[in-house]
Amino acid sequence: MYHIAPTMLCADLFKMRESMELLDKLGIDWFHIDVMDGNFVPNFAFGTDFLRQMTTVGKSPFYLHLMAARPEEYVDLFAELGVEYYCFHYECTKNPFRLCQQIKKQGMKAAAALNPATPVQFLRDLIPYLDAVTLMSVEPGFSGQRFMEFTYQRIKELRALADGFKLLIEVDGGIDIEIAKKCIDAGCDVVVGGYFTLFQKGKSIEKNYETFRQAVRN
Ligand code: DX5
Ligand code: ZN
Repeated sequence: MYHIAPTMLCADLFKMRESMELLDKLGIDWFHIDVMDGNFVPNFAFGTDFLRQMTTVGKSPFYLHLMAARPEEYVDLFAELGVEYYCFHYECTKNPFRLCQQIKKQGMKAAAALNPATPVQFLRDLIPYLDAVTLMSVEPGFSGQRFMEFTYQRIKELRALADGFKLLIEVDGGIDIEIAKKCIDAGCDVVVGGYFTLFQKGKSIEKNYETFRQAVRN
């Protein structure tokens, strides 16, 4: 069974409540929530107050993709908001082991995201402390960018490194249906549904979800 994680950055922001309620009903696996600090990435997304409101609406788990410097500073905040997976960028921390401990102590699952240029081998010794890894298949910061083809190889490498461990691999950025299938063949568990799938312009989320679901969960 493969997971579908809608990136709420792509939703019509004026219809966030309806979109979240609908996605919950359709049976998504988690909400992929992008938070950007305008520092680690050249964009801003989802402030604390908006996120707090989102957590009162969404029933599915929240997977926080934190594209922010100093991820150590926000653990308590997101635990309080009820986030299930706290996904920090490996590039943003000097002490990933301590950070994983901090996250778990607060009752959340620990996840790390890797930029396309960061070798997956850097995670080798951290894997036992992680519940999930997000492999970025675009440079983080914006939706609608082109998927980087070398990601398939990175998925395979990470799967091999994680052999014997229970690690979910999520791929994020530029995914369409054909790419999603190839990512799954390469060994990923979760595909982020965004600009090219669930939130395609001019089509309903229901239709997009059904097409995507049928293609990836066979
Ligand atoms: C980009 C974000 C993504 C983004 C996915 O920095 O992390 O979640 O929305 O890209 P698309 O929408 O192109 O799949
Ligand atoms: Zn993301």
